[in-house]
Amino acid sequence: MTTLTLPGLIDVHTHLRVPGGEHKEDFATGTAAALAGGITMILGMPNTSPPLTTPSALHTAYALAAADCRCDVGLFAGASPEDVRHLPELGETAVALKIYLNDTFGKLRVEDVPTLRACFRDWPRHKLIAMHAEKQSVAVGIGLAATYDRPVHFCHISRREEIELIADAKMRGLPVTCEVTPHHLFLDQADAQRLGPLGDMRPILGTPDDVAALWEHLHDTVDCIATDHAPHTLAEKHSATPPPGVAGLETSLGLMLTGVVDGRFTLDRLITLMHANPRRIYNLPAQPDTLVEVEMTPTHIQNEQMYSKCGWTPFHGREVAGRVQRVILRGQLVYENGQVLAAAGSGKVIGGQ
Ligand code: NCD
Ligand code: ZN
Repeated sequence: MTTLTLPGLIDVHTHLRVPGGEHKEDFATGTAAALAGGITMILGMPNTSPPLTTPSALHTAYALAAADCRCDVGLFAGASPEDVRHLPELGETAVALKIYLNDTFGKLRVEDVPTLRACFRDWPRHKLIAMHAEKQSVAVGIGLAATYDRPVHFCHISRREEIELIADAKMRGLPVTCEVTPHHLFLDQADAQRLGPLGDMRPILGTPDDVAALWEHLHDTVDCIATDHAPHTLAEKHSATPPPGVAGLETSLGLMLTGVVDGRFTLDRLITLMHANPRRIYNLPAQPDTLVEVEMTPTHIQNEQMYSKCGWTPFHGREVAGRVQRVILRGQLVYENGQVLAAAGSGKVIGGQ
């Protein structure tokens, strides 16, 4: 059996649900799930309740993260029309700014040009702006990147038309980057039908042609794999108004390694997409003496083995090519043989001062 040694993986798109959604996930459980998935650094999204759009909300979330996280955590600030005056102060603390142009879970949304303009003028230039942009909203983001001559990162790109537009923008030399999720690479509309609410997320699952386009562009246009870990309880998912989103921290590496074993892309490219590019694009600190050991043995994904508080995944029962055996973070053994060993609070926060 082969054992692979990888660098600590970085997930630039995680929902940790603190404050306001602790019954779905918290910093202690979400970061345990990250370590179990070979991920040693995560960036938490701002669509909490309240959302991270004010300095006080952001400081509170950072303090809770520092007390509870088992791996390293940075936080996004959120853009909202009501709180644009806070952008410079938020920019001193948060790792990056998230702008939601399209509908999804939570109330954070930017639908007016003055707010977009404020974001691009007032957010510190050395910190990234990330966008939830679908279909023609991707063109809005590219236009803003060009107008203000500053980088824009597109979250969870899922459609052929979007990835092709980004490829064209990159060809023109525009400063845009993007991520795709494992669920948009390994599931499609047919799975959405089969899974019902458990296969519903934003962006929704694509057509087989959309999925093919993401795989084609994995070699060049796609910069990062990000989980969009978006835990919701099974009761919420089976309710009359199921929220969109699925867990992803614990299944991402196994799925992507399956792509490598199937010859769809190389292990070098996997490391670029899940470690080197996330670190470079978000300008994240190094984690010395950090590594992930993976046993390349066929393994079934099981709901029962999850550390995420939600306790389910749309990939339950699927066979993947490898499993995380051991994780070492800054010289400490933090995960081994299915057991998370890192104490709550042993992780570091990134930003937050
Ligand atoms: C996310 C969530 O639940 O917070 N849901 C989702 O379907 N992806 C929000 C988001 O990332 O759009
Ligand atoms: Zn998300």
